[in-house]
Amino acid sequence: MSYSVEISDRATLRLLTERDVAVVLAAYLRNREHLAPWDPARLESFFTSAEQSGILTDQIEQLKAGSGIPFVIVKSETIIGRINLTGIVRGPFQSANVGYWVDKEHVGQGLASAALENIISYSIRDLGLHRLQAGTLLHNLGSQKVLRKAGFEPIGIAKKYLKIAGTWQDHLLFQRILSE
Ligand SMILES: CC(C)(COP(=O)(O)OP(=O)(O)OC[C@H]1O[C@@H](n2cnc3c(N)ncnc32)[C@H](O)[C@@H]1OP(=O)(O)O)[C@@H](O)C(=O)NCCC(=O)NCCS
Repeated sequence: MSYSVEISDRATLRLLTERDVAVVLAAYLRNREHLAPWDPARLESFFTSAEQSGILTDQIEQLKAGSGIPFVIVKSETIIGRINLTGIVRGPFQSANVGYWVDKEHVGQGLASAALENIISYSIRDLGLHRLQAGTLLHNLGSQKVLRKAGFEPIGIAKKYLKIAGTWQDHLLFQRILSE
């Protein structure tokens, strides 16, 4: 399975590969403080090749199993963002979660929006999904703007939905129905 598409004059969206451990680790090290308020609390071990290698192996397994699709946003060989489909469920649901982040040096350039638009098209065209879901912290106005711009609608607030930055936090859930 391969996928690679230009999403701007600066960036390419492609699938994560087994060879990406070092560049993924470098991206998380560069963006440690930038992502800390929006991510689960990270142990020191998260910022090691060994743990990133294990996470990457799990994500490639999910890709093979059809339950998740990990993408990276790259500029030259540097990872400047990620966007992942997780929890892909078939049957009568045909739904997946989408999550993303953009490197601190590359925010404000339309990259999250361009990547999300591309993933929406991919989810319709290549996966035949019916629905995408995303959740944001209530104060993550930037991410909410990205989702609303991409046609996602708020479903409601899920209390204590995810443990982010060490605390179970309420999230605003969004969905986009793809088959309309
Ligand atoms: C949220 C995030 C993904 C936005 O990425 P980005 O590439 O800067 O987003 P875009 O450039 O596509 O912005 C789309 C729109 O949202 C607006 N926006 C983006 N970040 C914003 C912010 N922090 N506050 C207010 N508006 C914001 C942009 O101005 C733009 O609006 P416009 O189209 O009217 O000009 C990025 O800041 C990030 O990675 N943050 C940390 C991790 C995170 O929050 N991930 C999402 C978890 S749900």
